[in-house]
Amino acid sequence: MTTPTNAITPAARAVELRTRIEEANYRYHVLDDAQIPDADYDRLMRELEAIEAEHPELAVVDSPTRRVGASPSREFAEVRHELRMLSLANAFSDEEIEDFVRRIEERLDITDPVFSLEPKFDGLAISLRYENGVFVQGATRGDGETGEDVTVNLRTIKAIPLRLRGDDWPAVLEVRGEIYMPRAEFERYNAHAREQGGKVLANPRNGAAGSLRQLDPTITATRPLAFFAYAPGAIAEADLPKTHSALLRKFRDWGFPVSSLVETARGAQGCLDYYRRIGAARDGLPFDIDGVVYKLDDLDAQRELGFVGRTPRWAIAHKFPAQEQSTRVLAIDINIGRTGAATPIARLEPVQVAGVVVTNATLHNADQIARLDVRVGDSVIVRRAGDVIPEVVRVIEDQRPADTVPWQMPSHCPICQSELVREEGQVVWRCSGELICPAQRKESIIHFASRRAMDIDGLGARLIEDLCDLGFVVSIADLYKLGLDDFLEMKRRADARDGTTPETVKAGKVATRWAENLIEAIEHSKQTTLERFLFALGIEHVGESTAKALATWFGRLELIRHLPWPLLKLVPDIGGEVARSIDRFLAQEGNQAAIDALLMRGVRLTDEHDVSPKLRPNLATDQFLASLEIPKLTERRAAQLAAAFEDIERLADVPEHHLITAGLPADTAAALVQWRDDPVHVDLLKRSLRTWNRLRELAGSSREVEQSLPLDGKTVVLTGSLSAMTRDEAGARLEALGAKVAGSVSKKTDFVVAGESAGSKLDKARSLGIEVWDEARLLEYLARNPD
Ligand code: IVH
Repeated sequence: MTTPTNAITPAARAVELRTRIEEANYRYHVLDDAQIPDADYDRLMRELEAIEAEHPELAVVDSPTRRVGASPSREFAEVRHELRMLSLANAFSDEEIEDFVRRIEERLDITDPVFSLEPKFDGLAISLRYENGVFVQGATRGDGETGEDVTVNLRTIKAIPLRLRGDDWPAVLEVRGEIYMPRAEFERYNAHAREQGGKVLANPRNGAAGSLRQLDPTITATRPLAFFAYAPGAIAEADLPKTHSALLRKFRDWGFPVSSLVETARGAQGCLDYYRRIGAARDGLPFDIDGVVYKLDDLDAQRELGFVGRTPRWAIAHKFPAQEQSTRVLAIDINIGRTGAATPIARLEPVQVAGVVVTNATLHNADQIARLDVRVGDSVIVRRAGDVIPEVVRVIEDQRPADTVPWQMPSHCPICQSELVREEGQVVWRCSGELICPAQRKESIIHFASRRAMDIDGLGARLIEDLCDLGFVVSIADLYKLGLDDFLEMKRRADARDGTTPETVKAGKVATRWAENLIEAIEHSKQTTLERFLFALGIEHVGESTAKALATWFGRLELIRHLPWPLLKLVPDIGGEVARSIDRFLAQEGNQAAIDALLMRGVRLTDEHDVSPKLRPNLATDQFLASLEIPKLTERRAAQLAAAFEDIERLADVPEHHLITAGLPADTAAALVQWRDDPVHVDLLKRSLRTWNRLRELAGSSREVEQSLPLDGKTVVLTGSLSAMTRDEAGARLEALGAKVAGSVSKKTDFVVAGESAGSKLDKARSLGIEVWDEARLLEYLARNPD
């Protein structure tokens, strides 16, 4: 955002800045509807601070630089804070931190003091009051003096203890901290809202603030909110620890979540090291942070230093580059994915967001665009958080040019010109071109070669695009017929096309080495597992866990590739939609031909095995009948039918009145006959019966492999980063020992393996009293239990 500053007096500019800041404050704090990104807000604030520093006569008492937050909205009762809720001064550079530490050293005449180092959580500050160990009141910060009484809403948040643990707490205890919405929960919430056509949350911070300020606590209760404690408020006389970090440990003992990222270190260097480490870990954290906070650890020293205005001299926030920025939409293009899904992408005027130049952002789908009313030419807020793709979160409406028009989904695929279609009840538009659409083919090859699929080292998206564009590969199986000369020839043509042709002998050698490595990687990928292979095929709805279930239960590709959908449904976790999607994929001749070609060119599945004996109980007649989804045929009726007709094949031609004499109600019998006589179902029933019989034979004769493993029945959660192996590797080792590896901690978790910088999962495990292993313990266990 640019604002002309020339030809304006400092006094006029200060007034303008104040008006804009106050407006932004009001929207942010009272309406929970921020209109400008934090980065712009910070810029306005800093400019105003600079003007006021240079012209002290302009620094009026009610300047936004001199107050915290905004007045509370009227709907909630007011709470006067017994002890003011303070704010922190912000710093953006190493020098500012060095100055901050130096000032403390000089005032106290000490060197390298110890600091408590904490993430700066990006949520909403609250104060919780406990009297005699019982939660009596919770309030927002408001203007620091007076906040809003949100006790009833806070009571719905499970992370907030209603009663303290232990018995050594003071009679009156106020604990302050941050309410936030974990990223995964935020994503889930928005995905759901998008599906339902509801209002999406702009970011997790707005999610937390909006949820807490609901007047109806039953709504708050449905929102996935969490809490971290980070500071004391008013506390009745008591024998308390002498340092902030020890106090936080006490908080944890008393039942408050305290982030496991909190540490202590000495001096400016210790602070800056922490800033960099947390900055590097930021994207992978389960919650948003917008910086780190350094607090002098010695509580007596804190008291001695006191405050300037409303910020303490003993603490400072060191902010990260903002995750939201404003920029302009230059165009809206359509990207066609592997399954044909058409995703609108905003092409943006390049803008730095959290240290990365962003030129594209996803708009998710047509409904989302309609909801946000994004138009070409609009100024928008883009956000890049975690490893998620940058997205457009909202339009800055008062900056819309006069001549914009609402956006519309094009009628045809921009790549293959096939029609774009939308299935009933779905939000996604798809290209109907399937195998003829080069975009879909390209994406399916990129997926096939990717690390978690066939893992062809070095064969990335760029290279695959070139191979496709220059006609060297058309389908996945073509990868296995590429020779050295193909790669060299392709590179030569790609270089010529891009105007980069280093025809030196050395370049020639380098290219040959590169091509040899690729050939080797392709060769290497031929030995793979059934699970990876199934995942690599890129069947819609078949992610890694479904691929794994198919591999585990059925054991062989030859079997799986001929299974009709009712039988796929016999595997737990595979529902009708997934089963039909697999069936649809396998029914396409082109796909079966691709599988044949892959096998012919040497792809080998190294871990195929017999049908799992676990499948046996699922092959009972009544389950089979129920899996066919015959109208009116409930599970009970299916069981009845199964009991009456020992030879189930007879169902294909048994007369209707026999069904009735067997005890079926007339309408069920009629529905069954009508279903059975539909030509589509004649074939389905025949195929299903045939495979079902075959599965029964196979499952009946397969060996019992039920040997017990040391971690059978145990559920494990991995969190944080390990040094000796990746989390995936550790997970695979634990699974090989029988464990189930889960993504989130619950009461059912048996133990948590916590590596470096473990976050909320570790906190949760601790709060639930679940056993926690560090990496050393894991390694020791794995060494003692080789799989
Ligand atoms: S301490 C006197 N610690 O940052 C100290 N604040 O401007 C008072 N915040 O409104 C705050 N993480 O919402 C503190 N680890 C942390 C924090 C933190 C986030 C927020 C808090 C406060 C603002 C300070």
